[in-house]
Amino acid sequence: MILRTAALAACLALTTALPAGEVAEFGKTPEGEMTHVYTLSNDNGMKIKLLDLGATLMAAEVPDRDGEKADVLFGFDEAAKYLSDDNQYFGVVVGRYGNRIAKGKFTLDGKQYTLECNNDPNHLHGGGDKAFSKVVWEAKASDDGRSVTFSHSSPDGEEGYPGKLDAEVTYTLTDDNAVRIEYAATTDKKTVLNLTNHAYFNLAGAGDETINDHEITIFADRYTPVDETLIPTGELAEVAGTPLDFRTPHQIGERVDLMGEGEGAGYDHNFVLNKTASDRPGLHKAAKVTDQDSGRTLTVLTDQPGVQFYGGNFLKGQTGKDGKTYAYRSGFCLETQHYPDSPNQPQFPSVVLNPGETYKHVCVYAFSAE
Ligand code: GLA
Repeated sequence: MILRTAALAACLALTTALPAGEVAEFGKTPEGEMTHVYTLSNDNGMKIKLLDLGATLMAAEVPDRDGEKADVLFGFDEAAKYLSDDNQYFGVVVGRYGNRIAKGKFTLDGKQYTLECNNDPNHLHGGGDKAFSKVVWEAKASDDGRSVTFSHSSPDGEEGYPGKLDAEVTYTLTDDNAVRIEYAATTDKKTVLNLTNHAYFNLAGAGDETINDHEITIFADRYTPVDETLIPTGELAEVAGTPLDFRTPHQIGERVDLMGEGEGAGYDHNFVLNKTASDRPGLHKAAKVTDQDSGRTLTVLTDQPGVQFYGGNFLKGQTGKDGKTYAYRSGFCLETQHYPDSPNQPQFPSVVLNPGETYKHVCVYAFSAE
C-alpha cells in the first residue's frame, strides 16, 4: 500500500525547481483530490499565482507608475468555488472549445458530434465536470523556476469531443513583467480545439468597482456579429461607425450603453484581429488597456486570429479572494482565440486538429505603467 502524505502529494504534484515555499496546498476537490497553488516571481519583484485546478492564472501583483503593487486578477480563495456553477471562469483555461458551439453540435467527416448545451441553447467553454477549467492538471516547474507547465490528458469522447487529447499549458513570468501563456496539444483522432485563458482584469486592482474608466484599444477593423444566443451570423462586419470601434483608444464605459439592454448586454464580442506587428517575434497586437489613475497598462499579444472582449456583464457581486466582491462590469477579459462556432462556419479559420499535428497558441499579457 502506498501512503500519500500531504507533503508527498505536493512533491508529486510538482517536480520542483521552485523553492519549497512557492508551492502550497490549495484545498481538496469534493472528490478528495488535493489542489496546489504555485507562485512565480521575477527580478522586478512581480509575482503571479497559478493553480493546478483548471490550470488557472489566479493572481498577478502589478506595479503602478509609482511602483505601488495591486493584484489585478479575479479569483477565489477556495477550490470549491472554482468548481461551482457560478465560477464565472475566473482565470481558468477553458477547453476543449473556448466560447460557443451552436446547439452543441458539429460534424467531422460526415459524423455528427453532440456536446452538452450548458449555455442554453449552446455549448460554452468545453461543457460540464470534465471541462478543462474544472479538472486538476499535472504540474511541472522549469529548471530555472520561471515557468510552470500544466498537462492534462482527456480521453476520446470526453464531454462529447472526439479523440484522446493531450494538452499542455506553460505559464512563464518574464523579467519585463509579462505573463506568457503557451498552449500545445495533440490528438489521436480528428477533432476540434480552441483553448484560451479566461482571466478577468481590473487594472486599478481586482475588487475596484468598475472598468468603465479604463481606456482600451483593440487592433481590429472587423468583428463577428452574433445572434441573440451569441452565435456568430457568419459575417465579418466592420467596426467603423459602431461602439465596437476601438481602433483608437476609448474608455470602456463611453459607449457601452449603446450595446443594448438586459442581462448580459454590453461588450461580449469576438474581434477579427488585424495582425498588427508587435516587437515580439511571431505575435501580433490584440489589445491595449490602461487605467489612467494608476497608469497600469496591459498589452495583449497573440498568434491567434481573434480576441473575445468581454466586459463582465454577468458579474453580480460574487465574493472572491480576500473577501473582495466583483461588481457588474468591474472586470474585463481578453480571450485570445479562434472565432466562436468555427466548427460550424467553414469560412472561418479552421479549428480542426488532425493526428500528427500539434496545436499551438501563444498569448502574452504584458504589463507596464504609463
Ligand atoms: C465568455 C462569454 C460570455 C460569458 C463569459 C462567462 O466570455 O463570451 O458570454 O459566458 O464567458 O461568464
